[in-house]
Amino acid sequence: MTVLDRIEELQGEALAAIDQAADTAALEELRVRFLGRKAELPNLLRGVAELPPQERGAVGKAANVARKTVEERLQAATERLAQAELDARLAADRVDVTLPGRPVEPTGTLHLLTAVRREIEDVFLGLGFTVMEGPEVDTVHYNFDALNHDPAHPARARTDTFYVRDDVVLRTHTSPMQVRAMEAQPPPIAIIVPGRVYRRDSDATHTPQFHQVEGLWVDEGITLADLKGVLLAFCRAIFGTEREVRLRGHFFPFTEPSVEVDVSCFNCARDGSPCRVCKGTGWLEILGAGMVDPNVLAGVPGGAYDPEQVQGFAFGMGIERIAMLKHGIPDLRLYYDNDLRFLRQFG
Ligand code: PHE
Repeated sequence: MTVLDRIEELQGEALAAIDQAADTAALEELRVRFLGRKAELPNLLRGVAELPPQERGAVGKAANVARKTVEERLQAATERLAQAELDARLAADRVDVTLPGRPVEPTGTLHLLTAVRREIEDVFLGLGFTVMEGPEVDTVHYNFDALNHDPAHPARARTDTFYVRDDVVLRTHTSPMQVRAMEAQPPPIAIIVPGRVYRRDSDATHTPQFHQVEGLWVDEGITLADLKGVLLAFCRAIFGTEREVRLRGHFFPFTEPSVEVDVSCFNCARDGSPCRVCKGTGWLEILGAGMVDPNVLAGVPGGAYDPEQVQGFAFGMGIERIAMLKHGIPDLRLYYDNDLRFLRQFG
């Protein structure tokens, strides 16, 4: 067979194979097979120089034309098959933009107790208090002794309080942080302390764990009038600008004098008739408070809180109770049942 015949044969073979290729990957293989570095046709072209001079022109030209023909056919086939492959992929990946979108996953809402705690914190931050937290497991010393509790005080009983050890309890109130905070910094001090507290109580109006916010402000010349002013501002921020507060005498071991604080009933004000919430009295009890007992101040190590120099007030409120009054929640257990129909109302 002459070289020219071989060229023609190779070209025919290549074109036939290209026309039958099923996809672009097959075409790539054919490109290597017929036009690659080790393929016969390019080798013939490279060998033209070694041919007898009278053959060079014809062989060179034929090989060149053959290579170009094969290249052009490859190019055309590649374009055709690539387009077909793209069309097939687009058809398979088709997105129906007319379908209704998938709704965004609901992100949930703050629990009512969290929302109310934050609201309370915001009010006191605005009045210049800072927020502190303290341990939920605390010593008998901080929970009772340093707060001037008599050794026979009923709250010390194991029927009332969860004991971890003889000298360690689950704190029964946030008041131990009064002492811890004063130990940590000299006066003046103005803090609130939100947190969990624990008591051995369980019925419609008591759960063994609940939440309090403690308040403490100690400086030179603080009086009961400051307590009343701060709590009035607090009540008006939380319960409405029309509110009044009143103080009633009470007893706590760690305040002297001690008071219970009432806010004027906002349900009565709403419909003008005596309501069930305040039982027609016009007042709702919201917290316990008083002037920090001199014994508590004097007990702070180092003498930084000399009761002859500084005075202060403290208060403690239940977050559950504040939220109940504010939102008309009838039963404490609703906070903890995790019924979404309840929780979602306070997003
Ligand atoms: N710790 C008291 C309680 O839990 C509340 C209180 C706090 C009273 C601060 C006076 C001063 O009942």
